[in-house]
Amino acid sequence: MSKKNILITGGAGFIGSHVVRLFVNKYPDYQIINFDKLTYAGNLENLRDIDQKPNYTFVKGDILDEAFVEETFVKYAINSVIHLAAESHVDRSITNPLEFIQTNVIGTANLMNVARKCWGDDFSDKRFYHVSTDEVYGSLGATGYFTEETSYDPRSPYSSSKASSDHLVRAYYHTYGFPMVISNCSNNYGANQFPEKLIPLFINNIKQEKPLPVYGKGDNVRDWLWVNDHADAIDVIFHKGENGETYNIGGNNEWQNIKLIKFLCRIMDEKLGREQGASEKLITYVKDRSGHDQRYAIDASKLKNELGWSPSIKFEQGLENTVEWYLENEDWLNNVTSGDYTKYYNQQYNAR
Ligand code: NAD
Ligand code: TYD
Repeated sequence: MSKKNILITGGAGFIGSHVVRLFVNKYPDYQIINFDKLTYAGNLENLRDIDQKPNYTFVKGDILDEAFVEETFVKYAINSVIHLAAESHVDRSITNPLEFIQTNVIGTANLMNVARKCWGDDFSDKRFYHVSTDEVYGSLGATGYFTEETSYDPRSPYSSSKASSDHLVRAYYHTYGFPMVISNCSNNYGANQFPEKLIPLFINNIKQEKPLPVYGKGDNVRDWLWVNDHADAIDVIFHKGENGETYNIGGNNEWQNIKLIKFLCRIMDEKLGREQGASEKLITYVKDRSGHDQRYAIDASKLKNELGWSPSIKFEQGLENTVEWYLENEDWLNNVTSGDYTKYYNQQYNAR
């Protein structure tokens, strides 16, 4: 078996940084090349603890730049890809869909084209792992779960761009025998998540005693998974998943938004030494997100039965750890919420 030289795209982002850390520490014989454009969501601070390790290299680059991607493939003799680079926030996709189509669809096709060019027809010991989302399956009513057989029904520009890329990755498998595997995961939470997504946004707002903008009635449901558990699942699927297969990853952990938010408020009151009920007073119902998906819920039994993965920690524990991380890492939070963040925040929330 050849030595693994893995290109991890989007490795400076939220999930990518946890995947990079896991692989760098767990597999000292692998070379890990973190390829990231460093958009607003990418932050090398996320990887300070491992960036001097001999099996880690950072390359600043855009997956849309085919020539530079090819140069990187050749320079580092890349034989595996774990592809996480993407535009990832639904609200931003509503404001600017084209950027999502560029990065998520064209960017994925570019990567696969370069891989095919560099790997030729010899796909032995090669792997292209495409990291995707459960949002491609659409919106559930009160019952049922997404399985790997559920038809795609994406309803936001973000989820449609991810669905398009999933289809392309599968098409390359059927057409060229391309050595791909896909996973579709539910909502992640944990350290280093950019505070545009629900949990870190609300932690930051509670800390600053700012309003908590709950979309619509707050009755939408999400299935939350600790980011480190997602990284573990990616490790398992990367090593044990079958070519051409899709694996759903989920936390078996559904929460209605408003219940989660009230729970988060209680944890924050306790950690900040505020009177219980203080943070809940910040809850403000605002105009709903356009096309807001009602419910996501993953059936992850294929992954459990075939590859033996299941989540490691309970949400209550994971959320408490996450709150502690944000409170202990004030500098990280202050850095990412300076500059352009204020502009984004005002555009997104002031008109609501
Ligand atoms: P993120 O927005 O935190 O990070 C994305 C990273 O990609 C950033 O580091 C950014 O700089 C980089 N990037 C963006 N455009 C690029 C380009 N053109 N070239 C190179 N790098 C580029 O995203 P995340 O939440 O960590 O999500 C990572 C992946 O996991 C995405 O593909 C997303 O669709 C998927 N996913 C996310 C979740 C979730 O809950 N966050 C759930 C399931 C799947
Ligand atoms: P988000 O973290 O954006 O993830 P996704 O939309 O990809 O599931 O949002 C999670 C849920 O929280 C979703 O139902 C939308 C809701 N939400 C709010 O109510 N207010 C907010 O400010 C944000 C960002 C999200």
